[in-house]
Amino acid sequence: MLTPSHLRCEHAPAPLGIDGPRPRLSWQLNSDLRAQTQRAYQIQAASSAELLAQDAPELWDTAMVTSSAQLVPYAGPDLHSGQRVWWRVRVWDGQDHSGPFTEPTWFEMGLLSPGDWHAAWIGWPGGWNGRALYFRRPVVIDKPVKRARAYVAGLGYYELRLNGRKVSDHVLDPGTTSYDKRVFYVTYDVTPYLHDGANVLAAIVGHGWYGTPKLMLQLHIDFEDGTSVRILDQDPTWQVGTGPIVQDSIFDGEHYDARLECPGWDEAQVQRPAHAQSSLDAEPNRATTVTWMRPHIVDPPGGRLVAQPLEPIRVVDTLSPERVTEPRPGIVVYDLGQNIAGWAQLRVRGRRGQQVVLRFAESLYPDGSVNQENLRSADATDTYTLRGSDTDPAGDGDVEIWEPRFTYHGFRYIQVEGYPGAPGPGAVIGRLVRSDTASAGKFTCSNELVNRIHRMVWWTEATNQHSIPTDCPQRDERMGWLNDLGARTEEALYNFDMARFFAKWVADIHDAQDPATGAITDTAPYRWGSRPADPVSVSYLLIPWMLYQHYGDTATMAAHYDGLKAWVDFLTSQARDHIVSYSYYGDWAPPVGESRDGSAGTSAVSRNTPGELISTGYYCYSARLLSQMAEVLGRKDDAHNYAGIAADIATAYHTRFYDPQMGGYGTNNQACNAFSLYMNLVPAPQKARVIESLVHDVLDLHDGHLTTGNLCTKYILEVLTDSGHVDVAYQIATQETYPSWGYMLSHGATTVWERWEHATGSGMNSHNHPMYASVGSWFYKALAGINLDPAKPGFGVIHIRPHIAGDLTHASATLQTVRGPVSSAWRLDGETLTLEVAIPAGSIAHVSVPKPSVAAPCRILEGDTVVWNSGPGPAVDGITAAEDAGYTIAFTVGSGTYTFTRESA
Ligand code: BGC
Repeated sequence: MLTPSHLRCEHAPAPLGIDGPRPRLSWQLNSDLRAQTQRAYQIQAASSAELLAQDAPELWDTAMVTSSAQLVPYAGPDLHSGQRVWWRVRVWDGQDHSGPFTEPTWFEMGLLSPGDWHAAWIGWPGGWNGRALYFRRPVVIDKPVKRARAYVAGLGYYELRLNGRKVSDHVLDPGTTSYDKRVFYVTYDVTPYLHDGANVLAAIVGHGWYGTPKLMLQLHIDFEDGTSVRILDQDPTWQVGTGPIVQDSIFDGEHYDARLECPGWDEAQVQRPAHAQSSLDAEPNRATTVTWMRPHIVDPPGGRLVAQPLEPIRVVDTLSPERVTEPRPGIVVYDLGQNIAGWAQLRVRGRRGQQVVLRFAESLYPDGSVNQENLRSADATDTYTLRGSDTDPAGDGDVEIWEPRFTYHGFRYIQVEGYPGAPGPGAVIGRLVRSDTASAGKFTCSNELVNRIHRMVWWTEATNQHSIPTDCPQRDERMGWLNDLGARTEEALYNFDMARFFAKWVADIHDAQDPATGAITDTAPYRWGSRPADPVSVSYLLIPWMLYQHYGDTATMAAHYDGLKAWVDFLTSQARDHIVSYSYYGDWAPPVGESRDGSAGTSAVSRNTPGELISTGYYCYSARLLSQMAEVLGRKDDAHNYAGIAADIATAYHTRFYDPQMGGYGTNNQACNAFSLYMNLVPAPQKARVIESLVHDVLDLHDGHLTTGNLCTKYILEVLTDSGHVDVAYQIATQETYPSWGYMLSHGATTVWERWEHATGSGMNSHNHPMYASVGSWFYKALAGINLDPAKPGFGVIHIRPHIAGDLTHASATLQTVRGPVSSAWRLDGETLTLEVAIPAGSIAHVSVPKPSVAAPCRILEGDTVVWNSGPGPAVDGITAAEDAGYTIAFTVGSGTYTFTRESA
């Protein structure tokens, strides 16, 4: 029987605050039998779970729809703002048996139109001397509440509070955008935070990426008696003031002066001293330091209010320091043992006014103190001023526990200065802060170095998701660079669920696009770099395509199609005879000996990989991706036209850059040849020669090392693997000498560096930079062998094709796909290979079992039922075998778990 599970709306479980009118509903399938497929589905939607239970889905009932689709847009009557929709689904299997309906789940609409917003942007004109703003407003509840929702947009970052409690576990809300185009609001269910009588609604707003704190907030309360009330932020009972956050900056850190705390500022005081004018006077010692004013209505940021469409940022983990040292008296350095993104939580006890300073860094000076030189102008320093005891200014107060709200750092080391007494091991702990995308992949193999690289890659990706895919989390940058994402996207998709996160970022790119010329920008939201972007910025097209490939989701390519096309047309406008010659970065930051002295970055432009070769190749890739998307979207003319443009570029590229003498492209270096092969720019007759040149360069000229930059490092591993040289790729990937990932590890790296060199001084050398983490997807694809089929996106068809590379005796991976977990695990024991494969219900896999290294006949056994000698075999139990290109025996299997054993006959 087939039963649906993992019900999602817009890729999220039970989301609150959806503002697309036709939310997409999706599910996975479970089956106790193999090779099951969904023949039909039925979705029902109602305004309550009870109505569904009574079989009365008054909103929408699809009845039985013959379709294998597992992602279906809601198509019932138009939904209204704030409406909650309950839904459930059941499916029929290939034998026409229908399973039961799932338990109901729900989604809830946000505020669907600008007319739903009655609040205003409030704040203090020009800000308040760089201080965070504190807003408060009493709310009296005099009858039973049925439900309450807060709709909040606060820039740069805000924290919503109700009755003294922080609402929700989000931090650094909202996600960053081009605020003049889009501003995210978040919907919170605040029903459980309200109580009868006097309540206080409050928010703290910091600077974030926006610069001047401002707030927009609506509280909607529905009462049991059917009445409702809307509380808006411009009504006269709101107050604004300042508080203990006296400075907050993403790059520089936060200063919190606990002496300025005003306990009870966000609570209704139950017992008020007789002399008190307001609840805030309840504790005269402290509250008198705050002047509460009427907030002003301030300029709006300009962008549309849009429901935050991606995972919020959260504190997702806590790390205890592994080592504590005291390089100089009073200077204590905590080592988390892992480079992370986030902040530290401080525990301290001392006198009022004492100041503890926390400095964050990725590396240490030889004397053991923190080295912040590579953070460039980012101070990355938090300061905490102790509350102490206000009854005895000379004595210690209670233990104070603090962590910042509106900053984050990239660091492994925390240097603590000014700590009263001797800080113990628990004085600081690391807090891992990131967009809470779910982990999607697991990989392990028999080579511990590869496992360590995989972990380093995972940490690098994990710590560079802060509502945009950042280039690094530590220095004065933290931008979404489009060039880096050309290489990193696939790695991210194998390690995390990026469906919402990447869709959001493509919209950021679109927001920054020049509507007149189609030019996009190097970073999105646009804060750095150039417009027009470097032609390497293929991620604008690649990500929508990959969202389709991995999640079967066409929404992003459909929503931004005109923009994607305008960018390709822009490149065409720059091309002469199909060659695009402008280039800023090209294959950026290769080993420094390959770079142009004194070039941009800190000598990061390649001297050997011509910019126009890379730009032209990406122009072709972009046109091809656009053509493929046009095909999927049914835009036949565009599909044809852009395929034609791509073919013309390919011809021009080959004519211009191929040197038959050398048997390679450009300078015949690794990047030029790997790039040409990956981009499919090498005509068939030249392929073998180019591959030979590439292998020769790696093995004979560079002793098994790469010479590539941020982009071609991905491609070299892929093309070597696909051309039958997986051992050469493996050799590159497992080097321990410079330049390699192993070299980084041997110098203590726990996240991937920006440069192949070990540098710690000022300049461009982040120690946590995901562009070279691109190797991460190769582990899943080449070693464990989990690959999708471009023609059957969303893992409808899966290619399991592991490689027994180098010294490996075992590799395994699991990937949580939209259809459920796919796993592949192989183990070699002498000449006996066991391959275990699990395929989610509804999918089909082509399983390629590697041949033994010795050319001996072998038999492949599947469970107890199927035995073949090598060579084509008959279909048995729905399993067919065929010889595959002299490399493997291939089987086609439906969903289920299979174990293949290959033995020498
Ligand atoms: C970023 C890189 C990016 C480069 C392009 C650097 O500052 O950190 O990740 O590729 O700029 O110029």
